Amino acid sequence: MNLKQVAGEKAVEYVKDGMVVGLGTGSTMFYAIKKLGDMVRNGLNIVGIPTSGETEKLAKQSGIPLSTLEEHPVIDVTVDGADEIDKKLNLIKGMGGALLREKIVASASKKEIIAADSSKLVGILGAKSPLPVEVARFGWSSTAKKISELGCKTELRKKDEEIFITDNGNYILNCKFNKIDKPGEMEQKINNIPGVVENGLFIGLADVVVVASNKGVKVIEK
Ligand code: A5P
Repeated sequence: MNLKQVAGEKAVEYVKDGMVVGLGTGSTMFYAIKKLGDMVRNGLNIVGIPTSGETEKLAKQSGIPLSTLEEHPVIDVTVDGADEIDKKLNLIKGMGGALLREKIVASASKKEIIAADSSKLVGILGAKSPLPVEVARFGWSSTAKKISELGCKTELRKKDEEIFITDNGNYILNCKFNKIDKPGEMEQKINNIPGVVENGLFIGLADVVVVASNKGVKVIEK
């Protein structure tokens, strides 16, 4: 059983006719978008707001009508994945590199649904996953130095030996903490550093988490 598929397909049950729908990014969202495409073929009338070029391409291929946040500044429901989820439904996101657009879309959404397999549930954020931080290219190494003074090791993200560049033309620093005790404070501290565009701590943004495990699907509400 593919747990990402189970979670992704369950999460899209929150999407109803006539809604503006935020479309997250990642391998769990792959299944959610495919399923939404099936629902659209069966008559569901929605408009999707993609959070990345990758998602835009997949949604187009799946036949989902798309628009922009400029046209629809308020989103009814967003479905997205996550890298870590704590008990308060705070998240680390961005291992797929789309954290900036995902966070803008999440904060414009009336309801944020997170789909994940149970490996993403953690006791404390940051002990397993690095925290992705999107930074301007200019001066990125001094931005990295300032971030590391908050208690982490920073590494410039690469893909196939090349520096990874986001859809917004920025770099990503993977910031490895031992753990993040106060994620709300850390989110603010990192975002206060000049050169930081956004970080992958999503605090208080998730309303519902749909988790698939070998025992079945659990829906956790805020
Ligand atoms: C994309 O930038 C991320 O925030 C993804 O939502 C997150 O990495 C989850 O990805 P998977 O569904 O591929 O595990």
